[in-house]
Amino acid sequence: MEEERLVSMDSVPEDVDSEASIRPQTLKDYIGQEQVKANLSIFIEAAKQREEPLDHVLLYGPPGLGKTTLSMIIAQEMGAGIRMTSGPAIERPGDLAALLTALEPGDVLFIDEIHRLPRAVEEVLYPAMEDFCLDIVLGKGETAHSVRLDLPPFTLIGATTRAGYLSAPLRDRFGVVCRLNYYEPEELAKIVTRTAKVLGSEIASQAADEVSRRSRGTPRIANRLLRRIRDFAQVKNDGDITLEMARIALERLQVDRKGLDHIDHLLLSSIMTKFGGGPVGLDTLAATIGEERHTIEDVYEPYLLQIGFLQRTPRGRVVTPLVYEHFKNEGLGGTDLS
Ligand code: ADE
Repeated sequence: MEEERLVSMDSVPEDVDSEASIRPQTLKDYIGQEQVKANLSIFIEAAKQREEPLDHVLLYGPPGLGKTTLSMIIAQEMGAGIRMTSGPAIERPGDLAALLTALEPGDVLFIDEIHRLPRAVEEVLYPAMEDFCLDIVLGKGETAHSVRLDLPPFTLIGATTRAGYLSAPLRDRFGVVCRLNYYEPEELAKIVTRTAKVLGSEIASQAADEVSRRSRGTPRIANRLLRRIRDFAQVKNDGDITLEMARIALERLQVDRKGLDHIDHLLLSSIMTKFGGGPVGLDTLAATIGEERHTIEDVYEPYLLQIGFLQRTPRGRVVTPLVYEHFKNEGLGGTDLS
């Protein structure tokens, strides 16, 4: 179900292609996350002055906020190469050994979804991060012995949406830990305006504001909505993205004024009409709307919690009065119990 969502925070192939072309290349061009940028620029400068690789960096936060982009910028700013992989792609210790031994001195190794690294792989990573070496076991049984292989000094950048899932020994080996937060609407408006320029489109500032208000604080969603609105503008309006055009397109795309789509509406209205506004247990809710429990938890709920539409209580999920208000304003059903 989630693949069909325009406001999903997960990336789809079209995002991957177009994110590559619209990604900012330098910290200066990267909009928002001011604290993270300010700290990183000091650490990068200091490492460069010492002619050492940057300490290992852990980036965590909800999907779509720019962890991959930031990693590429860090490598670029360090003047280093970057190798990109992900936790689930590294199945065996040997896979990691192959990656590590292929690094050039100073390179960045980026591991997305690092919380999904198999435990046996994680254990190979510890000495690699700490002492830049690999302990390889040769032979079996009585003749087994381990040899130590030196690695070039490198920077590991780990990205995760779930810092809490990381084992303590792994988390402790990152010298720099940065949390990315949802973007403010003003920052998203700047991002959308920048992206439009890169794509060769004109966007009115009010249209950029409208898109940013409906993008769940997430650049990936803002840029995806922009691409769809641009399609409408191109076919209906000579390509100029006016406020009116943006509103018409967003209406057609069924993204409401808070950036909620039909699945959010279904989830919230189920709690309101079937469970008196809550509390309702996660499993019951999952069965009612026909979704997986963890999909509700990881994908749908974080933004609803963030905007104060939903609360997690010990007895289950509860909708807040803001939801009744919002549904009324949007002319949606499900408010009959308010
Ligand atoms: N595109 C996606 N995220 C961005 C950001 N933070 N700054 C500039 N462009 C972006």
